[in-house]
Amino acid sequence: MSRFSGARAMSLAVAFQLSLASSLATAADVPLTPSQEQGKKLFHATCIYCHGEKVWGTFTLERRMGKDHALLEKRDDLVGAYVKTVIRAGLGSMPPYRRTELSDADIEAIAAYLTRLNPSSKEIS
Ligand code: HEC
Repeated sequence: MSRFSGARAMSLAVAFQLSLASSLATAADVPLTPSQEQGKKLFHATCIYCHGEKVWGTFTLERRMGKDHALLEKRDDLVGAYVKTVIRAGLGSMPPYRRTELSDADIEAIAAYLTRLNPSSKEIS
């Protein structure tokens, strides 16, 4: 009997810690879903040389939209459909990407990653 209640108290303590941990986590700490993780890899392989710190795409966006909107990975206002359209169609001096370069699943994953901080974007996968 006492062993049972001990185990029960332990599991309650664990549950409490888990709920505390999740309520303290900020958006930046939230672990990535598998598709966001994949998108992050693709973004770093394909986009980072123009969209990293202090490089061309980042400078161009800073000029057009201001400092807070310069680094794509820190944006909290990007919407999936817009990200996917820009990747396929290009934008200004950004080149478009064909399906042979990035598949639909690839750009879906990149969009999932870049919209993860947007509170109004619901990620299902
Ligand atoms: C050769 C450089 C280059 C590469 C590579 C590149 N971009 Fe860009 N990107 C730019 C530039 C420059 C702009 C700004 C265009 C403008 O405002 O005229 C831009 C703009 C964007 C925007 C629009 C942001 C906004 O708020 O309007 C998105 C989204 C974007 N890029 C996503 C990507 C993704 C995702 C990749 C990788 C698949 C990528 N870019 C690869 C140069 C690049």
